[in-house]
Amino acid sequence: MGKDVIVACDFAGAEETFAFLDRFTEEKPFVKIGMELFYAEGPQIVRDIKARGHKIFLDLKLHDIPNTVQKAMRVLSNLDVDIVNLHAAGTGAMMRAALEGLTRPDGTRPLLIAVTQLTSTDEVTMRSELLIGLPMEEVVIRYARSAAQAGLDGVVCSPLEAGKVHEKCGADFLTVTPGVRFADGDAGDQKRVTTPAQAKELGSDYIVVGRPITRAVDPVAAYRRCVKEFVG
Ligand code: C5P
Repeated sequence: MGKDVIVACDFAGAEETFAFLDRFTEEKPFVKIGMELFYAEGPQIVRDIKARGHKIFLDLKLHDIPNTVQKAMRVLSNLDVDIVNLHAAGTGAMMRAALEGLTRPDGTRPLLIAVTQLTSTDEVTMRSELLIGLPMEEVVIRYARSAAQAGLDGVVCSPLEAGKVHEKCGADFLTVTPGVRFADGDAGDQKRVTTPAQAKELGSDYIVVGRPITRAVDPVAAYRRCVKEFVG
């Protein structure tokens, strides 16, 4: 798996998304489709973006009983996406069921990665509301290991955790990392940010970049800057 920049297409509908993608006349960025766009437009948005030649990370973060997740993953495997995800908190049984559901009759399947802890959850909330009394890094690593043991391909994490995840789960275990900003950019609501160049140094396999590209005056130039810094 090569390093790549995934563009978070956090748009409200198809029209806005296609207007954005139309600006890319030379390259076909790897696209992340999240809940907002998927729930607004349904599975057809995935087929349409795929038909335009983009790779797709479908970011729906599934979390339910194993049987339900297995069946949902079976449906998603028919959409021919490249990466899908779920919450590691759903347990090893749920993750194994998800993998089974995702695997097509010919043995192929999209990559499956796990969310460890959402970046919107801090240690205080984790302790007081989720009743997990361990340090954040330990929780992230334990969840990552349980995802690796279940046979998943990687995790979503901060670039700051990528090195530790690789150390504990193997160099081939993917780290897909949001929270990326240009050195001269606005962090917005992201708290722990790195630049694309730092994410590369820290060992991220994929960076997920939304607003620094989608809200740039020149999104194509911003995308190219990301690729240049991260992929080289
Ligand atoms: O605009 P920005 O670059 O902050 O977008 C980052 C993307 O990554 C968003 O789609 C956000 O939902 C997603 N994400 C994140 N942190 C996580 C998981 C996903 O920022 N832990």
